[in-house]
Amino acid sequence: MRTPMVAGNWKLNGTRESVRELSLAVAEGAKEFADVDVLVCPVYVHIGDVAANIEGGAVLLGAQDVAMQDEGAFTGEVSAPMLVEYGCTHVIVGHSERRALFGDDDATVAAKFIAAQRGGLVPVLCVGETLEEREAGDTEAVVVRQLKAVIDAAGVQALNNAVVAYEPVWAIGTGKTASPEQAQAVHQSVRQTVAGIDASVAQSLRVLYGGSVKAENARELFAQADIDGGLIGGAALKSDEFLKICSAAAGLE
Ligand code: PGA
Repeated sequence: MRTPMVAGNWKLNGTRESVRELSLAVAEGAKEFADVDVLVCPVYVHIGDVAANIEGGAVLLGAQDVAMQDEGAFTGEVSAPMLVEYGCTHVIVGHSERRALFGDDDATVAAKFIAAQRGGLVPVLCVGETLEEREAGDTEAVVVRQLKAVIDAAGVQALNNAVVAYEPVWAIGTGKTASPEQAQAVHQSVRQTVAGIDASVAQSLRVLYGGSVKAENARELFAQADIDGGLIGGAALKSDEFLKICSAAAGLE
């Protein structure tokens, strides 16, 4: 079956020292969860430090975004081959904050997804609706559109080497989690959309839930048939809380 994944998106947070403490604590604690893929995604400048801090352990390292290009005159960007050189295996693409605040539209997200894989990274593709879209009854249409934009550009087989994260925008950082039933319904439609093109890709695709996941609600969410773990923001900044979420994904508590 699908190996659960718990990914920490540290966003724009942390000093060198706080990130050192956090990454060492996660690396130590994650040793207990051999059956969960634990991923941490610091800001670019901390990636080298974190790679050293988690070296030799099982924690995976990712970035929060990636350039569409591999190299050249693209001031401020960081490319997939550069991230791989520093020990990254994964990268988040299409996070709702990138989509809303930095203009990453579906075409940009698809290009970043392709650039990530071209450079040797596993993309963690975020999809999710705003509150307005949910209230208008458009949740499924939005999520399927975001997903199809990538499938159309990269091909469905590309999902064999990717992770999808369903993150309702209204649940991110708000303390309002989607109910397990609400989340499961969207996860199921993600999997069915993929299954409509290729059943075996759909079967092995990991779909994470993100949006105000905490230790206290993780277990119920992860118990849903199509929820394969979580993408964690705020709660990933505290190692104890994050490790409890990993424990829930391992089915331990
Ligand atoms: P949150 O963020 O857990 O703080 O809601 C999740 C995310 O943005 O990935």
